[in-house]
Amino acid sequence: MNQGSSTFDQYFTPESLICRLIEEVPLKKVKRIADFAVGKGALLLEAKKIWPEAELLGIDRDPKMVCSLKTNPTSGTWICENFLEWAPKQDGAAKAAYQSDLILLNPPFSLKAHPCLSIPFQGAVYRCSIALAFISYALRFLRKGGAILAILPHGVVHSKRDAALWSAIGKTFDLDILEDHVAERFHGCQVRCITVKIFNRRPKIHAKTAKPLEVVPDASAALQLSRGCFDHVSYKNADCRGRRGHLLIHTTNLKDGKIVGRFARLSAALPYKEYEGSLIVFPRVGRPSKEKVVFIADAKGLQFTSCVMVVACGEMSTAQAVFSAISEAWNSFRNCYGGTGAQYTTLEKVKDFIRSLPEAEGVEESSLKRSCSLAGG
Ligand SMILES: C[S@@+](CC[C@H](N)C(=O)[O-])C[C@H]1O[C@@H](n2cnc3c(N)ncnc32)[C@H](O)[C@@H]1O
Repeated sequence: MNQGSSTFDQYFTPESLICRLIEEVPLKKVKRIADFAVGKGALLLEAKKIWPEAELLGIDRDPKMVCSLKTNPTSGTWICENFLEWAPKQDGAAKAAYQSDLILLNPPFSLKAHPCLSIPFQGAVYRCSIALAFISYALRFLRKGGAILAILPHGVVHSKRDAALWSAIGKTFDLDILEDHVAERFHGCQVRCITVKIFNRRPKIHAKTAKPLEVVPDASAALQLSRGCFDHVSYKNADCRGRRGHLLIHTTNLKDGKIVGRFARLSAALPYKEYEGSLIVFPRVGRPSKEKVVFIADAKGLQFTSCVMVVACGEMSTAQAVFSAISEAWNSFRNCYGGTGAQYTTLEKVKDFIRSLPEAEGVEESSLKRSCSLAGG
């Protein structure tokens, strides 16, 4: 382990993970991309290939990292600062100069000097890990409609230490766990990681794609797309006999249009994502199959593994409309899945599918058109 890695938590992101993270960026136009723990700039330089016109902003507290970026032919604003103490003027032009549409982050995970920090967020003070402190500070520089894509330690969403701040952030921003168990190992480091996507607000529906769906002001009618939050492998052997705690649904529990089989029971103390009303669920990975698309009238007491895709519909009639639309437009739905090895789909592909439904499949008269607004992250 070199001095940088131990002093500054310099565990650089492997290329395969960078590409996967950038693939999940939901934005078309990106004017500024920031990384507040920029290191050698790998995340920003990769993103620049996709958005060549975007300005880059990178901060690192290690002067060596910043010096090497300043000699890089790719232009950008490179600042040597401790991000958690960085206080640029937050008024007028200065504020605008740092606001970013896209923030990519692989922050330090565990600086020994700061195992737990106290961080102000929206008028309250929270104890949290350094990684979540980075997210919380980074949100100040995220434009409306922008997104943060980050690699974080597993504990940010699964530990008591970060639970209060993570849940407070979730009340204002849309949180989406992309991978609950990142497969890559970081050089010299075996920390378990997740990847997350955070929206500053629900993204505006692009006028062109939004046209077929009527946007209604009632938020309860909105469809929300997400993946389950729990890692299948970790909970595979969880106790199935208890009576308390949520039931964990995995893809193997989706059969013949029903929820079947044995379920793990999750401890009541875990930080759950709350689902309300009716859902449509189907596997995120695996060969697409109609019998694995399941309508759930009441989501109470259910949780899902990260291999399951969840469309939270609110009203039962909306869920029924989505369910029949998937079945009627099965060939298009099947095209949401791809991949060279195991087939899989993404939130973006499913979202595009739902947006395209009325026009592509001629279901203008369905209750989908009358009652759904698509607002999910
Ligand atoms: C895990 S590395 C990630 C580097 C790069 N973004 C990547 O993905 O490969 C974290 C980086 O954050 C920097 N760092 C650590 N503490 C910091 C702080 N308080 N403020 C700014 N940068 C910091 C380290 O020097 C290191 O380069």
